[in-house]
Amino acid sequence: MTAELIDGKKISQEIRKGLEKEVAELTAKGMKPGLAVILVGDNPASRTYVTSKQKSCRAIGMESVLIEYPADVSEKELLDKITELNADDSIHGILVQLPIPPHISETKVIETISPEKDVDGFHPINIGKMMTGQDTFLPCTPFGVMEMLKYIGINPEGKHAVIIGRSNIVGKPMGQLLLNENATVTYCHSRTSDLQSFTKQADILVAAVGRAKMVKAEHIKQGAVIIDVGMNKDEHGKLCGDVDFEDVKDKAAYLTPVPGGVGPMTITMLLYNTVKSAQNRLN
Ligand code: GUN
Repeated sequence: MTAELIDGKKISQEIRKGLEKEVAELTAKGMKPGLAVILVGDNPASRTYVTSKQKSCRAIGMESVLIEYPADVSEKELLDKITELNADDSIHGILVQLPIPPHISETKVIETISPEKDVDGFHPINIGKMMTGQDTFLPCTPFGVMEMLKYIGINPEGKHAVIIGRSNIVGKPMGQLLLNENATVTYCHSRTSDLQSFTKQADILVAAVGRAKMVKAEHIKQGAVIIDVGMNKDEHGKLCGDVDFEDVKDKAAYLTPVPGGVGPMTITMLLYNTVKSAQNRLN
């Protein structure tokens, strides 16, 4: 193994330690940060994520409220709840766990959340601010990846960053954040012809496609930084990423493990955004 592992757990712990102090200071000023999480239906993966988000909030002294609805909740009831939370002074962040059932408009849900409480960074106003390089809530997963790169001392400037995946949650904002830091960015996706010709050029390769172990040694350049956003089950039902860890570990310079890589960072940046929202309220 020549690749150095990027330990998302360790980086997360360091950031969370700093956040814990800020939460205590905010609490002393009567502004204890509070996150409201809305879970619709009983998707087991969503429930696991939501439980983990709540536990992490409480571990650093934040308030966390879980609001649950059955899968057949009406769109109106959900939007009314969001409107109520927008007006609730004890709540600084609102998160609706995605995916939501198809009879509810995801666009309407996201656009109903007040941009000041949109700690996921999904509201079009916040996406616009991110694109124009203004201070705003950044989407947690790509934000976490940027923090990981900073931690290991990788400056994206002048580097070729290749993103596999173009989701609104990860792929698209990932490319934008790297571009904001002066990387040259290429987006690849399911319709890309000759994927390998692009990924082999990557100084920084981010895999966010949701296909178990699809990135092999033949896809990457010697000495590349490989960031694996995937959360899949392999043929034995074991958690694995989009990158074939065993295959690339002797060719990459840096590599994120799954689990223990990007995953913990996503939650950490959610905590960061919620603390920031509470701070904004004081200023
Ligand atoms: N579902 C998968 N990832 C996310 C996320 O970052 N935020 C929300 N709200 N839902 C998700």
